[in-house]
This record gives sequence, structure tokens and C-alpha cells, in this order.
Amino acid sequence: MTDDPHASRASLLLRSRAFFAGLGFVAAAAAAFAAYLTTDVYRHKAEALTPFVRVVEVGEDDTDPAKWGRNWPAQFGAYKQTSRPTKTRFGGHAGSEALPEEKIARDPWLQRMFRGYAFSIDYRDRRGHAYMLEDQEQTKRLTKPQSGSCLHCHASVMPLYRALGAGDADKGFEASHAMSYQQINQQLHDSGHAHPVSCVDCHDPSTMALRVTRPGFKRAIAAFAEGKGDAVALPSVQAWREGKRARPYDPSTDASRNELRSFVCGQCHVEYYCSSKMPLTFPWANGLKVDDIEGTWDAMKFPDGSAFSDYAHAETGAPILKAQHPEFELWSQGIHARSGVSCADCHMPYVREGATKVSDHWVRSPLLQVNRACQTCHRASEAEMKARVDVIQQRNHDLMQRGGAAIVELIDAVVAAKQRGATEQELAVAWKLQRQAQWRLDFIAAENSMGFHAPQEAARTLAEAIDFARRGQLAAVTLRSGIVAPPSAASGAAPAASSAAPPR
Ligand code: HEC
Ligand code: HEC
Ligand code: HEC
Ligand code: HEC
Ligand code: HEC
Repeated sequence: MTDDPHASRASLLLRSRAFFAGLGFVAAAAAAFAAYLTTDVYRHKAEALTPFVRVVEVGEDDTDPAKWGRNWPAQFGAYKQTSRPTKTRFGGHAGSEALPEEKIARDPWLQRMFRGYAFSIDYRDRRGHAYMLEDQEQTKRLTKPQSGSCLHCHASVMPLYRALGAGDADKGFEASHAMSYQQINQQLHDSGHAHPVSCVDCHDPSTMALRVTRPGFKRAIAAFAEGKGDAVALPSVQAWREGKRARPYDPSTDASRNELRSFVCGQCHVEYYCSSKMPLTFPWANGLKVDDIEGTWDAMKFPDGSAFSDYAHAETGAPILKAQHPEFELWSQGIHARSGVSCADCHMPYVREGATKVSDHWVRSPLLQVNRACQTCHRASEAEMKARVDVIQQRNHDLMQRGGAAIVELIDAVVAAKQRGATEQELAVAWKLQRQAQWRLDFIAAENSMGFHAPQEAARTLAEAIDFARRGQLAAVTLRSGIVAPPSAASGAAPAASSAAPPR
């Protein structure tokens, strides 16, 4: 396999940019040129891969990676390394000997936010792909009834979907949400497919080309294409929107190879809703931004007609939205996505294997190999690259802690208002603000890059979370207390911007 053309393009660009650094105005032109280059270079389809010797044939039902490993030992060897302990300041996990650390113990405000929901019982740091099935089987969240949809992202589940749908994986996927987790998990083990994410989930066994297998992603990206959400980071979606639209957007025919280097991860590293009430849903119809997704959830009704929420907060009663690991969504809002840099560029960089280069299938934190993951494009030293990440993560962490403190005070204020006899009707404004604040705070807390994937978008989201939380606190403090609030707090509406944005 040849070098990713993308990496050399970007590095070229960064170099030329450094050259022009003195001429401030050139930066804008360089950025426009970068956008042009990346969209143009990556529009083409999956390229022919380096020929390889097939020792064994592999097919759609081969979920055991060891079999594939006979043909592709380098990738299999690295894949197995995902069972090894890794640790960075904010990423990875402590070790393989025990379960990862409890997030809800480290940040008690998380536990407080989640009261009334299974995440308040057990919510830990993630670790390597090798553990995904076993960590799911072990979580104490399973002490509450969980849906069969959970398996979508924690096992090599496609043959089971086909079996459940009498050959039609999409039907099987539909059926799985109504099953209990225990029932579907038993069938997975009985059918011999109890493996974590496997080769067949990301690769076509006949050509080894990248592909998307998961129905959750396929449906969601098609709905996203139909909508109007910002698709600047996804050129093939833009192209589909400008085309005839004769059939739905389909990643297997429409996506570029470079996009697939992120889409394969977007099958799982996304916000979702998973319960027995409706099939697994990724909420992208209005777009991928935190507020777009909130809009989708707010407009959603359960099949029985009731308003959508994940749970009612045990202390306040507010109907809450729970966010889940939106790596794909946050990445889509950042400068890297906009420049055509994929998940695989940073998390599966090329490594030398004898005479050739292969993609590192030990998927892990890029900070463990900055030379391969970052310095292919960036010329700064390893120490400097790490320091840049650290600055972003520290700022994000500090803002998030402020958000956590604000949420706790909002919850305290609502509880106190209830003790003073505030009715549900009176609490409506504070409830709405709690939902909005928690949604934003949780979106960034549940995202696993500590703000790195899109630093400014993460900061914007946290700033809004803090504002909503403080307004909700104010709305509650003024209920039946004799304290008078300014009008904007009483209505719960955000204040109008004090000045119009200057023209572009
Ligand atoms: C420009 C490089 C870059 C790109 C592109 C990128 N990431 Fe990351 N990612 C990072 C960095 C840096 C971190 C922080 C790692 C740390 O704190 O150890 C991170 C963290 C993560 C983590 C948590 C890692 C851990 O060890 O706990 C996950 C999961 C993740 N990214 C998934 C994704 C997905 C999915 C995509 C694509 C949608 C993506 N990333 C795109 C650089 C990148
Ligand atoms: C089938 C679903 C699925 C797919 C596809 C998937 N992941 Fe994951 N990923 C997970 C789960 C689940 C975990 C957490 C496992 C655990 O904690 O037991 C995880 C963990 C991770 C981690 C943390 C590793 C560590 O050592 O802490 C990183 C980084 C990551 N994934 C990146 C990616 C990237 C990049 C891609 C695409 C190349 C990808 N993942 C594809 C489900 C998936
Ligand atoms: C859309 C894909 C998807 C679905 C559906 C999904 N997960 Fe996960 N899960 C992930 C990813 C990605 C990670 C790793 C990132 C993280 O931990 O934030 C993860 C991490 C986990 C972890 C390890 C960290 C933790 O939260 O303690 C557990 C346990 C877990 N999931 C259980 C479940 C259960 C139970 C369900 C069903 C209610 C479920 N998952 C449904 C994608 C998914
Ligand atoms: C989470 C998705 C994912 C899984 C699981 C996965 N791969 Fe890959 N694989 C990739 C990505 C991304 C690339 C880069 C492809 C590209 O750029 O065209 C890749 C590339 C490859 C290539 C082409 C050569 C190279 O290294 O770039 C081979 C061969 C390969 N993988 C084999 C395997 C085998 C064998 C397994 C199972 C042990 C496996 N892969 C599991 C995502 C995955
Ligand atoms: C494939 C090329 C590529 C890779 C790999 C890559 N970057 Fe970048 N990075 C870029 C481009 C392009 C930009 C935008 C630069 C510009 O146009 O000014 C960028 C911008 C950045 C910025 C500025 C972000 C901002 O919001 O302004 C930081 C910090 C950064 N990269 C860190 C990293 C780190 C850390 C890694 C490794 C984990 C990494 N990059 C990997 C190409 C890459």
C-alpha cells in the first residue's frame, strides 16, 4: 500500500503555510486552498489495495479475527494489542488486571446528573477494543433491563442480525431492540460469534476495501444527507445533495475512501438512543452539531406518542437527555475534519512492516505515538505537539469542572424550591434549563478526547452549558422565595445578542 496521499498533502500545506507565516493575509488563501485540495484529492473511490497471498478464504460469516490473521498477520498482531494497558493523562485506561476507573467517582457531579438513570450506578473509563464485549457483559448497568440494541457496537453482530431477520440484516436489526440484552447475548454466544469488533465489520472479505456494515450508521447518514445539517467535512454528502437524489445516500457507493477511514469508526463512536421502545437511533436528521441533535431529540416522539427523553431526574423530576460518546460528531466540527484528516490518520497511523507500510490496527490514543500520528503532517517537535494537546485538554477540563459545579447548584436550587412547595408547572422553566444545560455538559464529558477533536466547538458548548445551568438555578431560586429574578431568567429564554454580527 502506498503512503496516504492525504498525509503528504497536508504536510506540504503546513510547510508552505509556515513559509508564508510572516504574511498574515496569505493564511486565509492557504486555508481556502487546503479545503480545495482535500475535497478534490479525496473524492475518488477506494483504491486498489496491495495484492496479498490468501492462505485461507474468508467470508461474511467469519467473525473470528484469528482466521483472517492467517492472511494478514501484521494487522491481526496489532489488533490483538488492544488488550494491552495504555494510559495518557486523560485517555486510555489503567490496566488489564482490573476494570477501568469509575468516571462517576472521579467526577461526583456526573453521578448527581445521572440520578434516576443506570449511569449513576456504574460508568467507567473506556479501554481497548479487545474488552468491548466483556466490559458490556460486566457492567452493573445491566442490573436494569437493557435492550438487545446494546450489541450493535460491542460485538461482531452482523451474522446474528442476518439470522434474526431470516437473511435480511436490516430486519434482524429492527427486531433486536425488542429483545432483552441477556437473550440476544446468549444467542450471540450460542452462534459462535461472540467476538469484539472484527475484521469483517470494517472490511469487505472479498476485496478488503473499507465498508460500513452497521444499520444504525447507514440509516443515520442517509437521514443526515436528506437534511440541511452542515456537511462541510463530508464532501460526498455535499455532492449527493447537489445531485439527482434518485436514491438515498449510501456510504457503500457514495463515500470516498478517505471518508470511510472515519465512517468505519462512526458506526459506534456516536451519540445514540438505545432501548426496547424503538430501534437504535443516531439522531442526525437535523445535523451533527450539539444543538442540531438536541433539536432532533426535542421533536421526537416515542411510538406511543409521548415526548422523548432518556430519563426523569430522580431529584428534580426534569425530563433529561443523556449524551453518549459523540466522537464522530465533535470531530466533524473541527479543523481536522474540515481539512480531510480522518480518525484513522491519527488513531491508526502507518507503521513500517518490513518493506511495506501498514495501518496500525492497535487502535489507541495518538499521544502514545505522536511521531506517526501527528508529525507526518506537523513539523513541531513531539514535546511541542503533546504540549499543544495538553493546553487544549486542560482548558476543556477546567471549563467542564465549572459546568459540573453549576449543574450541582442548579439541582440543589430545584430541590430547595420543591421543598418550598413549588409545583411542576412552576418548575417548568428550571426543568427546561436543566435539560439544556445537562445535554451540553454531558455531550463534552461523554466525548472521549477531552475537547481535542474540536476545541472551540467544545468550549462553545461548555459556555452554553454553564449559562443554561446558572439561569436554571436563578429560575428555581426565585420560586416561592420572595426573590425577584430579571425577566430573562423568568422566561428561560436566552438573551438577544447585544450587537449584530459584523458582515463577513
Ligand atoms: C487530528 C488527530 C485526531 C483525529 C482526526 C481524531 N482523533 Fe480521536 N483523539 C485524538 C487525540 C489527540 C485524543 C486524546 C488522546 C488522549 O487524551 O490520550 C483523541 C481521543 C480519542 C478517543 C479516546 C482515546 C482514549 O485513549 O481514551 C477516542 C475514542 C477517539 N479519539 C476516537 C476518534 C474518532 C472516532 C475519530 C473520528 C471520528 C477521531 N478520534 C479523530 C486525535 C484525533
Ligand atoms: C463496533 C463498534 C466500534 C467500532 C467500529 C470502533 N470502535 Fe472504538 N471502541 C468501541 C468500544 C465499545 C470501546 C470501549 C471498549 C471498552 O471500554 O471495553 C472502544 C474504544 C476505543 C478507544 C479507546 C482505546 C483505549 O485503549 O482506551 C479508541 C481510541 C477507539 N475506540 C477508537 C476507534 C477508532 C479510531 C475506530 C475506527 C477505526 C473505532 N474505534 C471503531 C467500539 C467501536
Ligand atoms: C452506538 C454504539 C453503542 C451502543 C448502541 C452501545 N454502546 Fe457501549 N460503548 C460504545 C462506545 C463507542 C464505547 C467507548 C467509549 C466510551 O466509553 O465512552 C462504549 C463503552 C461502553 C462501556 C465501557 C465504559 C462505561 O460506560 O462504563 C460499557 C460498560 C458499555 N459501553 C455498555 C453498553 C450498554 C449496556 C449498552 C446498551 C444500553 C451499550 N453500551 C450500547 C458504543 C455503544
Ligand atoms: C474498526 C475498523 C477496522 C477493523 C476492525 C479492522 N480494520 Fe483493517 N483497516 C481499517 C482501516 C481504517 C484501514 C486503512 C484502509 C485504507 O486507508 O484504505 C485498514 C487497512 C487494512 C488493510 C490494508 C493494509 C493496511 O494495513 O493499510 C488490511 C490488509 C487490513 N486492514 C486487515 C485487517 C484485519 C486482518 C483485521 C482483523 C484482524 C482488520 N483489518 C480489522 C479498519 C479496520
Ligand atoms: C493528515 C494530516 C494531519 C495529521 C495526521 C494531524 N494534523 Fe493537526 N492539523 C492538520 C491540518 C491541515 C490543520 C489545520 C492547519 C491550518 O490549516 O492552519 C491542523 C491543525 C492542528 C491544530 C490547531 C487546531 C486548531 O483548532 O486551530 C492542532 C493543535 C493540531 N493540528 C494538532 C495535531 C495533533 C496533536 C495531531 C496528532 C494526534 C495532529 N494534529 C495530526 C493536519 C494534520
